[in-house]
Parts: sequence; structure tokens; C-alpha cells
Amino acid sequence: MSNQRSKLVVGNWKMHGRLAANAALLQGVARGAQALPRGVGVGVCVPHPYLAQALALLGGSRVAWGAQDVSAHEQGAFTGEVAAGMIADFEAAYAIVGHSERRAYHGESSGVVAAKAQRVLAAGLTPIVCVGETLEERESGATERVVGAQLDVVLAVLSVDEAARIVVAYEPVWAIGTGKSASSEQAQQVHAFLRTRLAAKGAQVVNVPLLYGGSVKPENAAELFRQADIDGGLIGGASLKEGDFLAICAAAGAGADVVS
Ligand code: PGA
Repeated sequence: MSNQRSKLVVGNWKMHGRLAANAALLQGVARGAQALPRGVGVGVCVPHPYLAQALALLGGSRVAWGAQDVSAHEQGAFTGEVAAGMIADFEAAYAIVGHSERRAYHGESSGVVAAKAQRVLAAGLTPIVCVGETLEERESGATERVVGAQLDVVLAVLSVDEAARIVVAYEPVWAIGTGKSASSEQAQQVHAFLRTRLAAKGAQVVNVPLLYGGSVKPENAAELFRQADIDGGLIGGASLKEGDFLAICAAAGAGADVVS
């Protein structure tokens, strides 16, 4: 079953890429994206130093760009941090907040993630808010409690209008970079649950794009994107390979035909 919402596929390059190699990848993705149906949006979230390169090479193309993290502060004495306004200067559309690697390796609580989402919205960008459970949490039956709580902390600090402008990515920690994607049924079940939490915030919020992330590949993308509450994907490893990333975008395009 498909749905009436558009599809969105966003690459998360993580800490990969160098200037020369990026150019070929960005230009290849921009070129390939021209062939996609109108109902599919495409973005790439690059390391901060490459935002200027993304602006130069993707400006005027179908492909949007963004950052992978942002400071929870507006400005000030925060050595090494990057403010949302700085990212906006490079005409970025997105900033990922609350990726599980930030939560696990940098101790980011959902409260910090919520503050970051607010900063991103205030700068006029779209936050891609990541939620996801660990394997231990899934096996103990805590998935909905964990992802529900992660999402609710963010929704609690946003107005209904702000909440309607976010993107949510469900990324089970056990599926990230492991080659072991959630099954389409497992993913759909959590997405349907997250959709009810969004609906509880307000009618305008129910159609917020819900992306699945975690070992999405050309081989499993179409099946995942066919699910009623899966509106696209957040793609790590496969977003570094032009052919794979474009094949995943094409799979989203197939599901987006209904709205194009
Ligand atoms: P993966 O990463 O596609 O390499 O599993 C997804 C992510 O962490 O956003």
C-alpha cells in the first residue's frame, strides 16, 4: 500500500568525503535527480566544511543540502560549535538533529535535541529529528516507549505550527551501518506509532514526513517505501555511492507516482 504524501530521500554522508571526490558525487546526484518524478524530494547532509561546495554545485538543481548537526545555542563562546544561522548562510534546507551517533558518542539528551530542533526552525531550516531504539530496548519490548519519549520531548517545546515543519527519521540503532535493515513490517509498525504521536500534537502535524533509516539499499528501498507510513529514507552508507543513492531515490519515485 502506498500513501498520498510526497517522498523524500536524504543522504547522511557522516564524516566521509573530501573536496575532490565530493564534486563528482554532488554533480552526479544533481544530474541523476533530473530524471526523478516530481513527487520525490532529494537532499544530502554533508560535513559542515562542505556546505559551500554543496551550495556551489547543487544550487539551482533539484537536490537540497543540509548539515548533520547544529549547536543548541544561537551564538557565543562555544568553541567548535556551528550555529544554525551559519548553516542557513549557505542556503541549506536541512539539519539532522539527534542522530543516534550524536546521542551515543556525544551524550546528547532528548532535551538537547529539542533545543537544536528549535534553533534549526528559528533559522528557517527544516530539522530532521532522529529517533530510534537499541537492540536491547527492542528485545525488551521497549521500542515504542523509547521512540515515543524521544519524539515527545521535541514536540513538547514546539508550537503546532513549528511541529508541522519538521521531518522525523526513525532509525533503529541496530540497523544503522550493520547491513541489517528493519523489515518493512517492523519499520511500518513503528512509523504508524510515531504517526499517532504526531497526530496527538495537532491535525496539522499528522502529515510530517516520516523517513526510515538504517541499512537502506537499492535492494530493500522499494519495499520499505511502499509502506503506508514510510515517506522516504535517511540514507547513510549508500548515499556515498552515486548509483546506489540514485537507485534509492528512483525507488521513492516509483512510490511517489500517485502525487506527481
Ligand atoms: P546507514 O546509516 O544507511 O549506513 O545504515 C543511516 C544513518 O545513520 O542515517
